Parts: sequence; structure tokens; C-alpha cells
Amino acid sequence: MLVQQYLPKDLFRGKTVFVTGGGSGINLGVARNFAALGASLAICGRTQEKLDRAAAELAALSAHLGGKVLPVAADVRDYAALEKALGRTEAEVGPVDVLVCGAAGNFLCPAEDLSPNGFKAVIDIDLLGSFNASRAAFEQLKKTRGSILFISAGQSFMPHAFQVHVGAAKAGIDNLMKNLALEWGRYGIRSNTIVPGPIEDTEGMRRLSSPEHDTRAKGAIPLGRYGTVDEIGHAAVFLASPFAAYITGTVLSVDGGSNLIGSALWNQAVESLVPRKGSGKAPPGS
Ligand code: COA
Repeated sequence: MLVQQYLPKDLFRGKTVFVTGGGSGINLGVARNFAALGASLAICGRTQEKLDRAAAELAALSAHLGGKVLPVAADVRDYAALEKALGRTEAEVGPVDVLVCGAAGNFLCPAEDLSPNGFKAVIDIDLLGSFNASRAAFEQLKKTRGSILFISAGQSFMPHAFQVHVGAAKAGIDNLMKNLALEWGRYGIRSNTIVPGPIEDTEGMRRLSSPEHDTRAKGAIPLGRYGTVDEIGHAAVFLASPFAAYITGTVLSVDGGSNLIGSALWNQAVESLVPRKGSGKAPPGS
């Protein structure tokens, strides 16, 4: 892997990294980069079989440096389940040095067609889930003087059509990140956010994009392409490493400059992907 060419191969040897939503996509890519540098991993998600498959892949990367891998099923909305997963991690792998809050849910839905429960589902997974993981990992992070990485999105600071639930959740995450950086700096705990741009071959892009939009978007993105999961992993290992020892409270966009072009292309594309069911209806009570 590329990361091993540029960073010491044992940079995270003896360290424990806990990744929520670590069974696939960007979060698994992040876990892979830590494993390649010798870290032990605990990955949590809702589906044990998916975690087991990811764990086998991670174990093959870090075993020669003594890295362990623990796949542990837990829904980030369930605080007790997370506490249990983190307890097992400390007992079986070691106290958490790096917490990656990556679990997320997403779908396209016009605001006027979104039910309160649909809005809540995404807030609960993304925002409450990130708080739950941070809170449940606090004592271990305090012990290790560790760091937290949140995986956010450009929707946090730029409104995107049919993403009202996601924008609200991700803006909340970035604010949570800054509050924890402020409050937990005294314990040596750092807290930072990574904002991935559009990343090839992920569940998110399969759910949210179309081939026509991809072609137009790649033409408009300053670096002219989508990113890779490894490129998010590279940012994660940097932010968690001693090279970033004085970085906390920061939002790092890893997006090829996507945030510079706004969301107009996206907004046009989703209008044709998802018809508005409620359009033309009078607002309730009028
Ligand atoms: N459009 C509008 N509303 C939707 C929806 C969609 N595509 N998908 C789900 N909802 C609504 C449901 O209708 C429900 O609301 P209701 O009770 O008023 O009908 C609410 O969201 C909860 O749905 P449910 O399926 O019970 O939630 P869940 O907890 O099982 O799933 C989701 C959570 C909806 C976020 C689901 O998409 C998920 O699990 N995603 C994880 C994977 C993922 O999204 N990856 C991409 C990350 S970028």
C-alpha cells in the first residue's frame, strides 16, 4: 500500500484504533491504512458477517507486526451496546488510542417529503452516534492521551438539495468535534474532522449519484477526478499521528477542491433522480 512507502511501517504498532462503521467503504479504507502501519483495530457496525469479512482483510495487513483485529457488532445509536464493544476492545486488544467516528446513514429525500422519523434516523446514526462513541471511549482516550477523528461531509457547510437531514447531522458533528477539542484538550485528547469529497466506489456514491452526474462533476472538480478511500485513509493516519500533535479542532477537507464549486451541479442532478412527491401541495395549516 502507498502509505507504507511514505510513513514508518510500524508507526501505529502497539496502538488500538476503534472505527465505527468500519465494515465497509471509507471507514474500512481508513482502518486498512492504520492496519498497514501496524495498528490493532476494533471495527463496529450492525452486521457481524460484514465485519468478519473486513476483519480478515485487516488481520492480513497488520498481523506480522503483532496487530490484532476485533470485529464487534454494535449499533452506534445504542449507547449500552457501544460501551460493551469498547469494554471488550480494552480487555481483548488494548485501550483505544484513536477513535474514528465514521458510521453514517444517507438517502436522497426532498425536505417536504421527509418524515420526522427519517430526519431523526440520520441525526441518530451520524450525530448522536458520534457523541455516543466519543463519550463511551472517553476514559480510554484519557488514559492513552488519544485522538478522535470524525468523518463529516461537505453538506455540513454547503447546503445540498435533498440532504437536509445529512447537512444538519454533519454540521452538528463538526460542532461536536470543536467542543470536544475545547473541553478534552486538557486530557491530551485531540479532536478533528475529515470532510471527504466524492469518493469512488463507495456505498454513498452508489446511493447518491448517477453516471451522467459523475461525468459533469469530474469536469468541474478542480483536480478533475473523484477521490479514493485510501486518500481519506492517508489524511486519517496523518491526523492521528505524532506529526499532527498540535492539531486539534480542525476540519480538513480531502476533496480535490470540490467545496470550491458549490452544490449547483448536484442540486440539478438530484432533481431528476428523485421526483418531489409533495411539490405543489399547500403547506400544512394554510
Ligand atoms: N427516503 C425517505 N425516507 C426514508 C428513506 C428514503 N430513501 N429511507 C428511510 N426513510 C425513512 C423511513 O421511511 C423511516 O421513516 P418513517 O418511520 O416515517 O417511515 C425512517 O427513515 C427510518 O427508516 P428505517 O428503515 O427504519 O431506518 P433504519 O434505521 O433501518 O435505516 C437509514 C437507517 C434509513 C439511514 C438506512 O438508509 C441505512 O441504514 N443506511 C446505512 C447505510 C448508508 O446509508 N450508507 C451510506 C452512507 S453515506
